[in-house]
Amino acid sequence: VQNGNGVKGLVDSGIAKVPERYVQPPQERIDKLDAFSQEHSPIDLSKLDQLAEYDQVAETIVRAAETLGFFQVVNHGVPVELLESLKEAAHKFFAQPPEKKAIYLKAVSPSPLIKYGTSFVPEKEKALEWKDYISMTYTNDTEALEHWPNQCKEVALEYLKASTRMVRKLLEILLTNLGVTQDHGSIIEALTGQNMVNMNFYPACPNPELTVGVGRHSDLGTITVLLQDGIGGLYVKAEENKSEWIEIPPIPGAIVINVGDALQILSNGRYKSAEHRVRTTSAQSRVSIPFFTTPKRSTKIGPLPQLVKIDRVAHYKEVTFGDYMDHFFGNAHEGKKSLNFT
Ligand code: SIN
Ligand code: FE2
Repeated sequence: VQNGNGVKGLVDSGIAKVPERYVQPPQERIDKLDAFSQEHSPIDLSKLDQLAEYDQVAETIVRAAETLGFFQVVNHGVPVELLESLKEAAHKFFAQPPEKKAIYLKAVSPSPLIKYGTSFVPEKEKALEWKDYISMTYTNDTEALEHWPNQCKEVALEYLKASTRMVRKLLEILLTNLGVTQDHGSIIEALTGQNMVNMNFYPACPNPELTVGVGRHSDLGTITVLLQDGIGGLYVKAEENKSEWIEIPPIPGAIVINVGDALQILSNGRYKSAEHRVRTTSAQSRVSIPFFTTPKRSTKIGPLPQLVKIDRVAHYKEVTFGDYMDHFFGNAHEGKKSLNFT
C-alpha cells in the first residue's frame, strides 16, 4: 500500500476491477439512491456585516450547528478565484509522476509538516478507502512556504488565512449562543491552535458500488472548512441514531462548514459533529480540500464548566487533544466511535 502510487497509481495501471482489499463489506457501501437531497440553501456570510441581518444569520448558523452539524456558506471572504486555483493545484499535485509524490510519504518525508498517503489508517482497515491525500500542517508562513509542495503551497496558505478569519467569526457566534461569559478570544485561541490543509484525490473508480472514498467518520477538530468540486458524493447522517443520509450537494462558489468533535465536546453536546462519508464515482476523479482547525496537542479539551453547571452533567471527560488525536489516528474510521474516548 505504501508505495508512491496510491489509488491513482492503481487506476493509471489500467485495472478493470477494484482489488479485493478495497471492497467494502455490504453494510458500508453507499447506494446513492438511498440518500435524501434536502433543500439546502447556503448561508450568506456577508449579511453578518449588516446590523439588521446579523441576528437572523447568526441564528441560522447556530441551528445548523445544533442539528445537522453541516452547512454551506457563500460570500465567505475566501475569493472564488482562489477556490478554483485550489482545485487546479490539487489536480496538478496528484497528476505528477509517482516518484515526485513518494518523496512525501511519511517514512521519508523531508518535513513532519508534510505527509502524502492513501486511504486513512491502512494498517488498521479491513477495507481500504479509495482516496489519496496530501496533508500540510501549518506552523508559520516561513515553514509552510519552505516545506509544503510547490504545486499548492501558495494557494493553500492563502486559503488557510482567509478561512481562519471566517472560522473565528463562526466561533464567536457559536460561543455567544452558548452564553459563554469567559473571554471568547482566549477560547477561540485554544480551539484553533493548530491548523492543517489537506488535499484529497478520489480517482474515478471502476466499481463505485463496492468502494467508499471515505468511510463513516466525524472530524476530530473544532471546525472544518471544506471545499469540494462539482462531482458530488459527500453524505451526512441526518440524525445520530437513524440510517438516513443527506447529500451535501456541490454549489458553485460555496464552502462546506462542519462541526468537529472538539466543538461537540466543548459545548457538552449542543453542537453536533456529524457523521459523514464520501461515495466514489466512475465518472471522473473528485478533489476536495479541507482546512482543519483544531486545538494544539497540549490543549485540554472538555465541556465548558459553565455548561456543565447548567446541565448538571459533563457528557465527556477532559482529555488532552494530543491523546484524542493519537486515538483518532490510531483506528480505522468507524462513525463517531472515537468520541467514546472522552
Ligand atoms: C472527509 O470528510 O474526509 C472528506 C470530505 C470530502 O471529500 O468531501
Ligand atoms: Fe471528514
